[in-house]
Amino acid sequence: MKTPKRIQPLVEEGLVDDVLRQLMSGKEATVYVVRCGEEIRCAKVYKEANQRSFHQAASYQEGRKVKNSRQARAMEKGTRYGRKMQEEAWQNAEVDALYRLAAAGVRVPKPYICFEGVLLMDLVTDAAGNAAPRLNDVELSEAQALDYHAQLLQQVVLMLCAGVIHGDLSEFNILVDAEGPVIIDLPQAIDAASNTEAAVLLERDVANLASYFGRFAPQLNHTQYGKEMWALYTAGLLRTDTALTGRVAAEKRPANVGAVLHEIQLARREEEDRQRSQQEM
Ligand SMILES: Nc1ncnc2c1ncn2[C@@H]1O[C@H](COP(=O)(O)OP(=O)(O)OP(=O)(O)O)[C@@H](O)[C@H]1O
Ligand SMILES: [Mg+2]
Repeated sequence: MKTPKRIQPLVEEGLVDDVLRQLMSGKEATVYVVRCGEEIRCAKVYKEANQRSFHQAASYQEGRKVKNSRQARAMEKGTRYGRKMQEEAWQNAEVDALYRLAAAGVRVPKPYICFEGVLLMDLVTDAAGNAAPRLNDVELSEAQALDYHAQLLQQVVLMLCAGVIHGDLSEFNILVDAEGPVIIDLPQAIDAASNTEAAVLLERDVANLASYFGRFAPQLNHTQYGKEMWALYTAGLLRTDTALTGRVAAEKRPANVGAVLHEIQLARREEEDRQRSQQEM
């Protein structure tokens, strides 16, 4: 097909030889099948910020590192330079997460480069070599659902051990190749250690899996794998081979309200100090 304008820079750089066809146009990106030498790959072209939806929400940005404080200030102020930086940070987040996860042994498409807002990665394919279907599009038996659910929990544990939470995991962001589920779509991936929403987002990701597979295997409906993983993770006890039960013991001790209030007071004072010293600057 005629090369889309956004992929032209990659053709000029010799990163892409041919654009074969458009695969999908989603909320955040348009995805193409491309040829790079002998290889068939996938090019994800990010939409401009104003065409995108909810993912820019603050909770996803939190804890992300930018290179220097000038960039951070510009991003906070929303200057043109700041918006450009934010745009790049967003686009690079996915390629960074893919590299990190591929290195940790998570089943994700192998990334190559993110150039001019286009992410180049391996095309996930089915047994016949066609673009792999989304999990949402495959029929599952109960046994298969249980098997895929277990495989995906294992992948989520691997991700968490690498410090990453997907943040938008669902049957629409999982492809199924000949060997099983492959996780995609990670621009909103969050840092497990520094994001204050981490526990909530992890639980939501894992609950999405249980409720989807629960349609085929209802015994998954009341499992609590997300809570269990998070408890182990925060206790420093989560390993890539930890056996999970899906159950967490109910907290029986009374809550220590005094200690919580004390923590809140400390945090408030810290914030007041921070604001004061910022004003003085
Ligand atoms: N590496 C890949 N291999 C095969 N197909 C892919 C790959 N990456 C993306 N796709 C296809 O393109 C679709 C959109 O990709 P992705 O989910 O990353 O973008 P998105 O803009 O967030 O889309 P959506 O709004 O549908 O979630 C996927 O559902 C999948 O069908
Ligand atoms: Mg998606």
